[in-house]
Amino acid sequence: MRILLLTRSFNSLTQRLFVELRARGHEVSVEYDIADSVTEEAAALFEPDLIVAPFMKRAIPARVWRRYTCFVVHPGIVGDRGPSALDWAVAEGETEWGVTVLQAEAEMDAGPVWASRTFALREATKSSLYRHEVTEAATAAVLEAIERYASGRHVPQRIEQGAPGVRGRTRPLMKQDDRRIDWSRDTSADVLRKIRAGDGTPGVLDELFGVACHLYDAHEATPLPTRGERGPVEPGQILARYHQAILRATTDGAVWIGHVKRADVEGAFKLPVAIAFPEQVAALPVAGDGHDEIRYEEDGAVGVLHFAFYNGALSTAQCERLLAAYRAALARPTRVLVLAGGPDFFGNGIHLNVIEAAASPADESWRNINAIDDVCEAILTTTDRVTVAALQGNAGAGGAFLAATCDEVWARIGVILNPHYKNMGNLYGSEYWTYTLPRRVKGGDPRAVMSHRLPISAREAQSVGLVDAVIEDDHAGFFDEVLRRAQRLARSTSFAARIDGKRARRARDEAEKPLARYREEELAQMRRNFYGFDPSYHVARSYFVRYTPPSWTPRHLAIHRERQRLAAA
Ligand code: COA
Repeated sequence: MRILLLTRSFNSLTQRLFVELRARGHEVSVEYDIADSVTEEAAALFEPDLIVAPFMKRAIPARVWRRYTCFVVHPGIVGDRGPSALDWAVAEGETEWGVTVLQAEAEMDAGPVWASRTFALREATKSSLYRHEVTEAATAAVLEAIERYASGRHVPQRIEQGAPGVRGRTRPLMKQDDRRIDWSRDTSADVLRKIRAGDGTPGVLDELFGVACHLYDAHEATPLPTRGERGPVEPGQILARYHQAILRATTDGAVWIGHVKRADVEGAFKLPVAIAFPEQVAALPVAGDGHDEIRYEEDGAVGVLHFAFYNGALSTAQCERLLAAYRAALARPTRVLVLAGGPDFFGNGIHLNVIEAAASPADESWRNINAIDDVCEAILTTTDRVTVAALQGNAGAGGAFLAATCDEVWARIGVILNPHYKNMGNLYGSEYWTYTLPRRVKGGDPRAVMSHRLPISAREAQSVGLVDAVIEDDHAGFFDEVLRRAQRLARSTSFAARIDGKRARRARDEAEKPLARYREEELAQMRRNFYGFDPSYHVARSYFVRYTPPSWTPRHLAIHRERQRLAAA
């Protein structure tokens, strides 16, 4: 079928549907929902059999849904309507939620239902649920809806709210008033639920150090300081700092808050609290212990290094801490070291927000790429054990190439990789990709991976050689399977031979061309990106961190427009 994905942006769910639909042989094009006239034009150019709208904030124009069958993905259970479906589900502590695929009609989310799925709602941020449960449910429901549509026999069901078995109802846009934290009354659980319901966007409007700001990235403080230990503490009081987060008292304990967006500055964007409020945070006492994004665990011969950095971004400071943790892990007597990233992302490369906030973004970019390269170098020069990158969540740009420095890359089946840098203002990229890719990619030509700017599924990544094993398990089962495989690897009778081979290969490669030279060559290009006359990277980064809405769909996604251009040429 010819399927047009109409979407507000090419977000993670849209990327997943894009790869799944293409893998099933459909011809897929993408148009951003920018203006009704643009949508109409896209439909006229592509003449799709079907339009699928995975991520919309506005209604599809009537002239389009009257002419083409349009499926809208609603992140809510059957009968649920409104623009803040998932926010309400998290805020109200629902235990089961769902996704519904409806046919677009005049009233938003009210058309007949083609397919739906439900899932258990974890205690997690809205965006984590979106990236895992919602994405899995939406993918299954959209694929089923398309099959039903293709059969020509299925009649979609019209749902009446309030009918027996229909739990969903219409709920309004969730406003900041609905999200507000009452520090004098809310418990830690209340605060966590409220912040999670608005994380990644829009956050919860609150105040820190007397400045209005949106809060994100909240974690329970464990163990909760008891009233006695806390002394005379007021709920809402900021108690301490740990790395870049702050500890704030609630009525029954405290919570860590990692990220904020200041509301007093025009064009502000999300930042670690210690960067948004440097002097105020520096003046706080340092907590002896706190929520740590980096965690090491060990089971016999297998070590696992978790680095659950917010949004998968790796700042200079985070890379330095990761390198120290990696070196500490190397000092342990293990045979296999698993790099686990975080549950939502393995990594997305250098920290664009922290760079944007720096006095000199070019200098900070330079420091950051060197810091991530130091981590990559430490992995590449590890010759006494096997390293494994375990991708529980998506990996993009430098995060995908960080994974590629490991001996093995194992990915969860639903993971999406964006193994390219070009979308960020034509960055050349580093992370030793010029060394790792030719050795990994089948046929040895890195252009097979780098030249296109599209997301790929774990299976596609495996077929090009970027991933070694795809694990067909869900979010929860994936990690158990990783550990089982890592243990098997550590016990394997050929382990010693494998290590000998690895050591010999590294020595041979180093003699042929030292790792330092690969780095030097990549960084010479990156220097040009950071300091050269072409400002594309700085412009793209500024747009990215501020979510500047795009004014057109990139040509590599909108293939209907490319066709038109070729026809005209
Ligand atoms: N630095 C800082 N923040 C980043 C980031 C980075 N490198 N990569 C992603 N993020 C943030 C996004 O701003 C977004 O923030 P939000 O929660 O406030 O909305 C969040 O992570 C999720 O990213 P999003 O773009 O919504 O996820 P996606 O799954 O739709 O797309 C990517 C994934 C990797 C394609 C996309 O995030 C991307 O292009 N990231 C930049 C990668 C890059 O160029 N890195 C620098 C070169 S190494």
